[in-house]
Amino acid sequence: MNAIEIRGLSKSFRGMYAVDHLNMTVPVGAIYGFIGENGSGKSTTEKLICGHLVPNEGEIKLFGREYTDAGVRVRVGALIENAGCFPGSSIYQNLMMQAINLNLENRDEEIRRVLKIVRMEQHASLKFKKCSLGMKQRVGIAMALLGDPALLILDEPINGLDTDGMRIMREILVDITQNYGCTVLISSHLLGELEKIATHYGIIRQGKMIVEMSAAELEGRARVFVSVKTKDLVGAKTALKAKYTTVKEEDGYLRVYDVDDTESIVEYLLQNGHVVSEIKKNKIGLEEYYVELMSQPTAQKEEK
Ligand SMILES: Nc1ncnc2c1ncn2[C@@H]1O[C@H](COP(=O)(O)OP(=O)(O)OP(=O)(O)O)[C@@H](O)[C@H]1O
Ligand SMILES: [Mg+2]
Repeated sequence: MNAIEIRGLSKSFRGMYAVDHLNMTVPVGAIYGFIGENGSGKSTTEKLICGHLVPNEGEIKLFGREYTDAGVRVRVGALIENAGCFPGSSIYQNLMMQAINLNLENRDEEIRRVLKIVRMEQHASLKFKKCSLGMKQRVGIAMALLGDPALLILDEPINGLDTDGMRIMREILVDITQNYGCTVLISSHLLGELEKIATHYGIIRQGKMIVEMSAAELEGRARVFVSVKTKDLVGAKTALKAKYTTVKEEDGYLRVYDVDDTESIVEYLLQNGHVVSEIKKNKIGLEEYYVELMSQPTAQKEEK
Protein backbone atom coordinates (compact mmCIF):
# COMPACT_ATOMS: atom_id res chain seq x y z
CA MET A 1 0.00 0.00 0.00
CA ASN A 2 1.07 3.57 -0.54
CA ALA A 3 1.09 6.16 2.22
CA ILE A 4 0.60 8.92 -0.36
CA GLU A 5 -0.77 8.62 -3.86
CA ILE A 6 -1.29 11.82 -5.81
CA ARG A 7 -2.64 12.07 -9.35
CA GLY A 8 -2.94 15.21 -11.46
CA LEU A 9 -2.71 17.59 -8.52
CA SER A 10 -2.77 21.29 -9.39
CA LYS A 11 -2.77 24.49 -7.41
CA SER A 12 -2.48 27.94 -8.92
CA PHE A 13 -1.96 31.34 -7.36
CA ARG A 14 -3.07 34.33 -9.42
CA GLY A 15 -3.30 32.24 -12.56
CA MET A 16 0.18 30.71 -12.17
CA TYR A 17 0.63 27.02 -11.41
CA ALA A 18 2.61 26.44 -8.19
CA VAL A 19 1.78 22.72 -8.50
CA ASP A 20 1.08 21.58 -12.03
CA HIS A 21 -0.67 18.23 -12.62
CA LEU A 22 1.69 16.56 -10.18
CA ASN A 23 1.86 12.81 -9.59
CA MET A 24 3.51 11.33 -6.51
CA THR A 25 3.74 7.89 -4.97
CA VAL A 26 5.16 7.38 -1.48
CA PRO A 27 5.23 3.75 -0.32
CA VAL A 28 4.47 2.90 3.30
CA GLY A 29 7.67 2.86 5.37
CA ALA A 30 9.61 5.11 3.00
CA ILE A 31 11.76 8.08 3.80
CA TYR A 32 10.84 10.03 0.69
CA GLY A 33 13.22 12.84 -0.22
CA PHE A 34 11.31 15.61 -2.00
CA ILE A 35 13.76 17.68 -4.00
CA GLY A 36 13.42 20.83 -6.06
CA GLU A 37 14.72 24.35 -6.59
CA ASN A 38 13.36 27.34 -4.67
CA GLY A 39 9.80 28.03 -5.75
CA SER A 40 9.38 24.65 -7.49
CA GLY A 41 6.28 23.82 -5.42
CA LYS A 42 7.49 21.57 -2.59
CA SER A 43 5.88 23.47 0.30
CA THR A 44 2.68 24.00 -1.68
CA THR A 45 2.44 20.24 -2.38
CA GLU A 46 2.99 19.51 1.31
CA LYS A 47 0.38 22.07 2.37
CA LEU A 48 -2.10 20.48 -0.07
CA ILE A 49 -1.46 17.02 1.40
CA CYS A 50 -1.97 18.43 4.89
CA GLY A 51 -5.21 20.12 3.87
CA HIS A 52 -3.86 23.61 4.58
CA LEU A 53 -4.58 24.58 0.98
CA VAL A 54 -7.39 23.51 -1.33
CA PRO A 55 -6.33 22.15 -4.74
CA ASN A 56 -7.74 23.36 -8.04
CA GLU A 57 -7.84 19.81 -9.32
CA GLY A 58 -6.43 16.36 -8.77
CA GLU A 59 -6.61 13.48 -6.35
CA ILE A 60 -4.79 12.87 -3.06
CA LYS A 61 -5.09 9.47 -1.39
CA LEU A 62 -3.49 8.72 1.97
CA PHE A 63 -3.24 5.04 2.91
CA GLY A 64 -5.71 4.30 0.13
CA ARG A 65 -8.33 6.73 1.44
CA GLU A 66 -9.51 10.16 0.38
CA TYR A 67 -7.19 12.69 2.09
CA THR A 68 -10.08 14.67 3.60
CA ASP A 69 -11.34 11.57 5.45
CA ALA A 70 -11.22 12.40 9.18
CA GLY A 71 -10.01 8.89 10.01
CA VAL A 72 -6.94 9.34 7.84
CA ARG A 73 -6.27 13.00 8.73
CA VAL A 74 -5.51 12.07 12.35
CA ARG A 75 -2.77 9.77 11.07
CA VAL A 76 -0.83 12.68 9.53
CA GLY A 77 1.66 14.85 11.44
CA ALA A 78 3.42 17.80 9.83
CA LEU A 79 6.12 20.36 10.36
CA ILE A 80 5.83 22.99 7.64
CA GLU A 81 7.69 26.29 7.94
CA ASN A 82 7.90 26.41 11.76
CA ALA A 83 6.69 24.60 14.84
CA GLY A 84 4.16 27.32 15.75
CA CYS A 85 5.29 27.31 19.38
CA PHE A 86 4.82 29.98 22.04
CA PRO A 87 8.32 31.33 22.76
CA GLY A 88 7.70 32.14 26.42
CA SER A 89 6.25 28.70 27.22
CA SER A 90 8.29 25.63 27.98
CA ILE A 91 8.70 22.75 25.55
CA TYR A 92 6.41 20.67 27.77
CA GLN A 93 3.74 23.39 27.92
CA ASN A 94 3.81 23.80 24.15
CA LEU A 95 3.41 20.08 23.67
CA MET A 96 0.61 20.01 26.25
CA MET A 97 -1.30 22.75 24.40
CA GLN A 98 -1.02 20.77 21.18
CA ALA A 99 -2.02 17.54 22.96
CA ILE A 100 -5.13 19.32 24.28
CA ASN A 101 -5.89 20.70 20.79
CA LEU A 102 -5.67 17.18 19.42
CA ASN A 103 -7.86 15.93 22.25
CA LEU A 104 -5.35 13.22 23.12
CA GLU A 105 -5.76 10.87 26.04
CA ASN A 106 -2.84 10.11 28.38
CA ARG A 107 -1.32 13.46 27.49
CA ASP A 108 1.60 13.37 29.89
CA GLU A 109 2.56 9.88 28.75
CA GLU A 110 2.27 10.88 25.09
CA ILE A 111 4.43 13.99 25.63
CA ARG A 112 7.11 11.88 27.36
CA ARG A 113 6.95 9.43 24.46
CA VAL A 114 7.56 12.05 21.76
CA LEU A 115 10.24 13.86 23.80
CA LYS A 116 12.09 10.56 24.08
CA ILE A 117 11.92 9.99 20.32
CA VAL A 118 13.47 13.41 19.62
CA ARG A 119 15.94 12.96 22.49
CA MET A 120 14.74 15.89 24.51
CA GLU A 121 13.46 14.23 27.72
CA GLN A 122 16.02 16.24 29.68
CA HIS A 123 14.83 19.58 28.31
CA ALA A 124 11.06 19.46 28.89
CA SER A 125 11.06 22.54 31.14
CA LEU A 126 13.23 24.69 28.85
CA LYS A 127 11.47 27.72 27.37
CA PHE A 128 11.05 27.42 23.60
CA LYS A 129 12.81 30.76 23.01
CA LYS A 130 15.92 29.39 24.74
CA CYS A 131 16.18 26.45 22.35
CA SER A 132 18.88 26.30 19.65
CA LEU A 133 17.68 26.00 16.05
CA GLY A 134 18.35 22.25 16.10
CA MET A 135 16.33 21.88 19.30
CA LYS A 136 13.47 23.96 17.87
CA GLN A 137 13.35 21.69 14.84
CA ARG A 138 13.24 18.65 17.11
CA VAL A 139 10.44 20.21 19.18
CA GLY A 140 8.59 20.75 15.88
CA ILE A 141 9.01 17.07 15.08
CA ALA A 142 7.84 16.15 18.59
CA MET A 143 4.72 18.30 18.02
CA ALA A 144 4.09 16.52 14.72
CA LEU A 145 4.55 13.13 16.40
CA LEU A 146 1.87 13.73 19.03
CA GLY A 147 -0.96 11.26 18.53
CA ASP A 148 1.33 8.67 16.90
CA PRO A 149 0.92 9.57 13.21
CA ALA A 150 1.56 7.02 10.47
CA LEU A 151 2.77 9.73 8.08
CA LEU A 152 5.07 12.61 8.89
CA ILE A 153 5.49 15.55 6.53
CA LEU A 154 8.57 17.66 7.14
CA ASP A 155 9.44 20.78 5.18
CA GLU A 156 13.20 21.36 5.17
CA PRO A 157 13.78 20.17 8.75
CA ILE A 158 17.58 20.01 8.40
CA ASN A 159 18.16 23.46 6.90
CA GLY A 160 20.49 25.58 8.97
CA LEU A 161 21.52 22.78 11.33
CA ASP A 162 25.17 22.13 12.15
CA THR A 163 26.82 18.78 11.44
CA ASP A 164 25.86 17.36 14.81
CA GLY A 165 22.28 18.68 14.53
CA MET A 166 21.95 17.04 11.12
CA ARG A 167 23.30 13.75 12.41
CA ILE A 168 20.82 13.70 15.31
CA MET A 169 17.99 14.59 12.92
CA ARG A 170 19.00 11.75 10.58
CA GLU A 171 19.05 9.28 13.46
CA ILE A 172 15.63 10.46 14.65
CA LEU A 173 14.10 10.07 11.17
CA VAL A 174 15.52 6.59 10.69
CA ASP A 175 14.30 5.67 14.19
CA ILE A 176 10.79 6.97 13.43
CA THR A 177 10.51 4.88 10.27
CA GLN A 178 12.21 1.72 11.46
CA ASN A 179 10.97 1.51 15.05
CA TYR A 180 7.69 3.42 15.01
CA GLY A 181 6.43 2.32 11.57
CA CYS A 182 6.08 5.89 10.34
CA THR A 183 6.41 6.99 6.70
CA VAL A 184 8.31 10.25 6.23
CA LEU A 185 8.04 12.80 3.43
CA ILE A 186 10.92 15.23 3.75
CA SER A 187 11.79 18.14 1.51
CA SER A 188 15.37 19.35 1.52
CA HIS A 189 18.02 21.13 -0.50
CA LEU A 190 20.78 19.26 1.28
CA LEU A 191 21.08 16.35 -1.11
CA GLY A 192 24.18 14.86 0.48
CA GLU A 193 22.32 14.64 3.81
CA LEU A 194 19.15 13.33 2.21
CA GLU A 195 21.10 10.65 0.40
CA LYS A 196 22.24 9.17 3.71
CA ILE A 197 18.68 8.29 4.77
CA ALA A 198 16.21 8.49 1.87
CA THR A 199 14.76 5.26 0.48
CA HIS A 200 12.90 7.08 -2.32
CA TYR A 201 13.19 10.35 -4.19
CA GLY A 202 10.88 12.68 -6.04
CA ILE A 203 12.27 15.55 -8.06
CA ILE A 204 9.92 18.46 -8.77
CA ARG A 205 10.47 21.25 -11.25
CA GLN A 206 8.09 24.12 -11.94
CA GLY A 207 5.32 22.29 -10.12
CA LYS A 208 5.74 19.04 -12.07
CA MET A 209 7.16 15.77 -10.82
CA ILE A 210 9.93 14.98 -13.26
CA VAL A 211 11.44 11.84 -11.73
CA GLU A 212 10.45 9.47 -8.98
CA MET A 213 12.74 6.62 -8.05
CA SER A 214 13.91 4.43 -5.21
CA ALA A 215 17.41 4.74 -3.78
CA ALA A 216 18.19 1.40 -5.49
CA GLU A 217 17.04 2.81 -8.86
CA LEU A 218 19.22 5.88 -8.35
CA GLU A 219 22.13 3.55 -7.67
CA GLY A 220 21.41 1.77 -10.96
CA ARG A 221 20.99 4.98 -12.97
CA ALA A 222 24.00 6.80 -11.57
CA ARG A 223 26.86 7.02 -14.02
CA VAL A 224 30.05 5.23 -13.09
CA PHE A 225 33.40 6.87 -13.56
CA VAL A 226 37.06 6.28 -12.82
CA SER A 227 39.04 9.11 -11.25
CA VAL A 228 42.77 9.24 -11.94
CA LYS A 229 45.62 11.42 -10.80
CA THR A 230 48.76 12.05 -12.84
CA LYS A 231 51.48 14.71 -12.73
CA ASP A 232 50.54 16.23 -16.07
CA LEU A 233 46.75 16.48 -15.88
CA VAL A 234 46.42 18.55 -19.06
CA GLY A 235 48.47 16.11 -21.17
CA ALA A 236 46.75 13.07 -19.67
CA LYS A 237 43.35 14.64 -20.33
CA THR A 238 44.19 15.17 -24.00
CA ALA A 239 45.35 11.55 -24.29
CA LEU A 240 42.25 10.18 -22.54
CA LYS A 241 39.92 12.29 -24.69
CA ALA A 242 41.31 10.58 -27.78
CA LYS A 243 39.98 7.25 -26.50
CA TYR A 244 37.13 7.92 -24.07
CA THR A 245 33.92 9.88 -24.73
CA THR A 246 33.59 11.89 -21.51
CA VAL A 247 36.63 13.09 -19.59
CA LYS A 248 36.41 15.94 -17.08
CA GLU A 249 38.77 17.54 -14.61
CA GLU A 250 37.37 17.85 -11.10
CA ASP A 251 39.20 18.72 -7.87
CA GLY A 252 42.65 17.82 -9.22
CA TYR A 253 41.52 14.48 -10.68
CA LEU A 254 40.55 13.42 -14.16
CA ARG A 255 37.22 11.68 -14.36
CA VAL A 256 36.67 9.15 -17.12
CA TYR A 257 32.91 8.52 -17.29
CA ASP A 258 30.97 5.34 -18.12
CA VAL A 259 34.06 3.17 -17.63
CA ASP A 260 34.97 0.97 -14.71
CA ASP A 261 38.00 -0.83 -16.05
CA THR A 262 40.85 0.77 -14.14
CA GLU A 263 43.56 -1.50 -15.57
CA SER A 264 43.00 -0.50 -19.17
CA ILE A 265 43.12 3.19 -18.21
CA VAL A 266 46.42 2.75 -16.33
CA GLU A 267 47.88 0.80 -19.26
CA TYR A 268 46.65 3.30 -21.84
CA LEU A 269 48.02 6.29 -19.91
CA LEU A 270 51.37 4.56 -19.42
CA GLN A 271 51.60 3.88 -23.16
CA ASN A 272 51.11 7.63 -23.62
CA GLY A 273 53.82 8.54 -21.13
CA HIS A 274 51.66 9.29 -18.06
CA VAL A 275 52.26 7.52 -14.77
CA VAL A 276 49.09 7.13 -12.67
CA SER A 277 49.65 8.00 -9.01
CA GLU A 278 46.06 7.37 -7.87
CA ILE A 279 43.05 5.64 -9.40
CA LYS A 280 39.61 4.89 -8.04
CA LYS A 281 36.23 3.61 -9.25
CA ASN A 282 33.31 5.90 -8.42
CA LYS A 283 29.62 6.51 -8.98
CA ILE A 284 28.00 9.91 -9.17
CA GLY A 285 25.85 10.72 -6.15
CA LEU A 286 22.41 12.25 -5.83
CA GLU A 287 23.79 15.78 -6.00
CA GLU A 288 25.50 15.27 -9.36
CA TYR A 289 22.57 13.26 -10.71
CA TYR A 290 20.30 16.16 -9.79
CA VAL A 291 22.56 18.82 -11.29
CA GLU A 292 22.84 16.79 -14.50
CA LEU A 293 19.06 16.31 -14.66
CA MET A 294 18.40 20.00 -14.07
CA SER A 295 20.81 20.99 -16.82
CA GLN A 296 18.75 19.10 -19.40
CA PRO A 297 16.00 20.97 -21.26
CA THR A 298 12.56 20.32 -19.70
CA ALA A 299 11.11 18.46 -22.71
CA GLN A 300 13.77 15.73 -22.62
CA LYS A 301 13.19 14.79 -19.04
CA GLU A 302 11.31 11.73 -17.91
CA GLU A 303 7.66 12.06 -17.10
CA LYS A 304 6.12 9.59 -14.73
N1 LIG B 1 0.19 31.79 -0.83
C1 LIG B 1 0.77 32.05 -2.00
N2 LIG B 1 0.35 33.06 -2.80
C2 LIG B 1 0.91 33.29 -3.98
N3 LIG B 1 1.91 32.56 -4.52
C3 LIG B 1 2.38 31.54 -3.79
C4 LIG B 1 1.83 31.23 -2.49
N4 LIG B 1 2.49 30.15 -2.01
C5 LIG B 1 3.41 29.80 -2.94
N5 LIG B 1 3.35 30.64 -3.99
C6 LIG B 1 4.17 30.53 -5.23
O1 LIG B 1 4.14 29.20 -5.65
C7 LIG B 1 5.39 28.77 -6.13
C8 LIG B 1 5.84 27.55 -5.39
O2 LIG B 1 6.14 27.91 -4.05
P1 LIG B 1 6.57 26.88 -2.93
O3 LIG B 1 6.69 27.66 -1.66
O4 LIG B 1 5.65 25.72 -2.94
O5 LIG B 1 8.00 26.42 -3.44
P2 LIG B 1 9.14 25.59 -2.69
O6 LIG B 1 9.55 24.52 -3.62
O7 LIG B 1 8.65 25.20 -1.34
O8 LIG B 1 10.31 26.65 -2.57
P3 LIG B 1 11.44 26.83 -1.43
O9 LIG B 1 12.53 25.86 -1.75
O10 LIG B 1 11.89 28.24 -1.63
O11 LIG B 1 10.82 26.60 -0.10
C9 LIG B 1 6.32 29.96 -6.00
O12 LIG B 1 6.39 30.61 -7.23
C10 LIG B 1 5.63 30.82 -4.96
O13 LIG B 1 5.94 32.17 -5.16
MG1 LIG C 1 9.33 25.58 0.58
